[in-house]
Amino acid sequence: MIQSVSSSIRFAGQTKLPADKSIAHRAALFASFANGISTLYNFPASADPQSTLSCLQQLGVPIEVLPDRTVIIQGVGRYGFRKPNSPLDCGNSGTTMRLISGVLAGQPFSSELIGDASLSSRPMGRIAEPLRKMGAHISLADGHAPIRIHRSKGLHGIDYELPIASAQVKSCILLAGLWASGTTIVREKIPSRDHTERMLNLSISHSNEKCSIRSNLSHPIPHGTFTLPGDFSAAAFVLVATSIIGTGPVYLPNVGLNPSRTGLLTVLKEMGANIQIRNESVSGTEPMGDLIVQRASLRGITIRGDQIPNIIDEIPIIAVAGAFASGTTTIHDALELRYKECDRILATVTNLRKLGAQIEEFEDGFAITGNVPLHGNTVDSFDDHRIAMAMAIAGLGATGKSTILKANAASVSFPEFWDTLALLQEAH
Ligand code: S3P
Repeated sequence: MIQSVSSSIRFAGQTKLPADKSIAHRAALFASFANGISTLYNFPASADPQSTLSCLQQLGVPIEVLPDRTVIIQGVGRYGFRKPNSPLDCGNSGTTMRLISGVLAGQPFSSELIGDASLSSRPMGRIAEPLRKMGAHISLADGHAPIRIHRSKGLHGIDYELPIASAQVKSCILLAGLWASGTTIVREKIPSRDHTERMLNLSISHSNEKCSIRSNLSHPIPHGTFTLPGDFSAAAFVLVATSIIGTGPVYLPNVGLNPSRTGLLTVLKEMGANIQIRNESVSGTEPMGDLIVQRASLRGITIRGDQIPNIIDEIPIIAVAGAFASGTTTIHDALELRYKECDRILATVTNLRKLGAQIEEFEDGFAITGNVPLHGNTVDSFDDHRIAMAMAIAGLGATGKSTILKANAASVSFPEFWDTLALLQEAH
């Protein structure tokens, strides 16, 4: 699909966002091995969480999807999964592949996980290595999917310090710990998103500037009713678009506001954005609230170090904010971006240069000079949802027309994205 956007000066109104992708994966997965029925309201139509649902169905979990997108999952308990008849297709979803691998590592049957071309090029040694330390038998193809997980002969807990800040790796190990003898401890120096530990109510302690999270075989798995909050990472595109173009205000109800995800609010506020939070509440263990954003004059800032994991998915759209800010916006310590759905540093730099931006590429980030006028051009999503959406917002702020190739990538996390853009440009 090819999508064009034109220079816009109107961006206002109210819109509902898709439910949070990270939370949806976990809600479905944890419900699948609980003992009891879970009802998940507002489950997203996005391709990634749908990949998780179809893998769970292949593992014999009864799942009913109602027309209003309520998902009812009949948990099969820790030992109720069925050996799948064919490889589990995780599509484009790293979270599906890495989290389900943690669950399958301890199962009494063999399984195989596959993905699309992008997922098959992403590093999987980062989960295979700790799972092997726990006693799992795992084969990779040169460090990548397909992942073959051999029938478990029993796992044992490990004490593991994460070499990189990654919620997917952290969650994978903690999940395997639910099938392992003894205690599994994951230690992280730099916090990453904490949905797994919150939603499973895992024990957490802090010492020597590290956070230690524990799981074990007898840890109870919660189930019940859960309304999924809106995706903060989807809100990010609307927050930046409204800040840099249009009139505002834009009102975003029921957005997930887990502090391990909302680093972009701190970043945008430091850049001078006008964003307010209203009606704060909690759904299950996840905080949420409404966001109201108005247009503002932004200024460039430097972001690095411990701030990065909290904004890791928002960096392409921060680059766009930087293009419309005074001064320079610099990102460092974000090498992980090169291992996402595409090399997001390369994709961001290549595309923004095509639109006329002055941007310098570093191995671990970039520096973009703000307020250099952008002009419409053809850019490529690199088959990456966040690149497609970030470039659409850049196109709205550029003069003339911009065309985004392979724009359907957006449906991985935000299938309603193109309609939402149109709605907010028309609204008054
Ligand atoms: C995710 C964790 C992050 C993030 C991804 C979703 C998750 O990846 O980029 O979009 O749901 O755990 P890493 O954990 O690899 O940093």
